[in-house]
Amino acid sequence: MKAYVSPIVDSTTVFKNDIFKGKVLFCTGGGSGICKAMTEAVMRHGANATIVGRKLDRLTASAEELARTTGRQCLAAQADVRDPKQLHEAVANTIAKYARIDFVICGAAGNFLAPISGLSENGFRTVVEIDAIGTYNTIKATLPYVRESKGSYIHVSATLHYRGTPYQVHVSAAKAAVDATSAVLAVEEGPRGVRSNVIAPGPISGTEGADRLTTKDGSGGGWANIPVGRTGDVKDIANATIFLFSDAASFITGQVLPVDGGSEHLRPLGLPYPQSVLDPESVKGMIKSRL
Ligand code: COA
Repeated sequence: MKAYVSPIVDSTTVFKNDIFKGKVLFCTGGGSGICKAMTEAVMRHGANATIVGRKLDRLTASAEELARTTGRQCLAAQADVRDPKQLHEAVANTIAKYARIDFVICGAAGNFLAPISGLSENGFRTVVEIDAIGTYNTIKATLPYVRESKGSYIHVSATLHYRGTPYQVHVSAAKAAVDATSAVLAVEEGPRGVRSNVIAPGPISGTEGADRLTTKDGSGGGWANIPVGRTGDVKDIANATIFLFSDAASFITGQVLPVDGGSEHLRPLGLPYPQSVLDPESVKGMIKSRL
């Protein structure tokens, strides 16, 4: 029996296209990859946006492209999330242009593979500063406006720190801090109408992160055996974003949503997967119960 492969779906085919009309998104890391796709999806549902990043050329090109393809406005705000002053400026420019912030994506991140024994103190600190402290800085700079709009945060984390992922000590420590920060934000700001959730992308193809962390020829094998039958697409993360920012998620806060095709839950024992579940007869000799 062949394994089912779940389809990749556009968010515009699922959600009403004007649900974010009049809203404003502030997205760090929005110049490329997953966060750019998240921004595009939110804009396609009616919002204007600011994307924040370090490289002005790339940011400006992305902002123009996003505005062109969605018909909404997009501001490119150059800032390093490690620098609160630069972030406050990006927020001030956003308020000057749109007069509000409803949604914030804390997505700026840094990653590379390095063993604990070979990683310098500065290497560890740099990633913690971008991911964890950058998230805190972004929250601090935007919160007064998100309180006003009774808006919502999504933090882009990962699933790798749920277990011991080799060569990822810096990112694991940083993302654990991001998850914890979101939970505290949710309980402190919930009574003021602000929600905060985490999206934890699993294996997503075609991103800078994937390029940095996996072998080109698939010989690493770490992305095989995903229960839904395929690796993730940036559209999968975009769909989760639309849902979590929408009113349909108004009772959901303080949560971590892994968008990983079920891979986090898979423990295939020693049995071939997915063959052993598609064709139990193939492992009949090992199963005591009646098939
Ligand atoms: N292996 C080991 N150490 C590394 C490294 C690697 N591949 N890349 C950077 N570092 C170390 C540097 O050696 C330096 O430490 P040192 O001063 O002890 O030598 C420290 O990390 C800071 O590096 P630097 O390049 O000065 O920092 P930066 O702020 O310019 O860059 C990074 C930030 C390191 C995260 C960089 O990889 C980056 O900009 N990445 C782009 C964004 C990204 O990673 N996207 C993927 C998202 S999943």
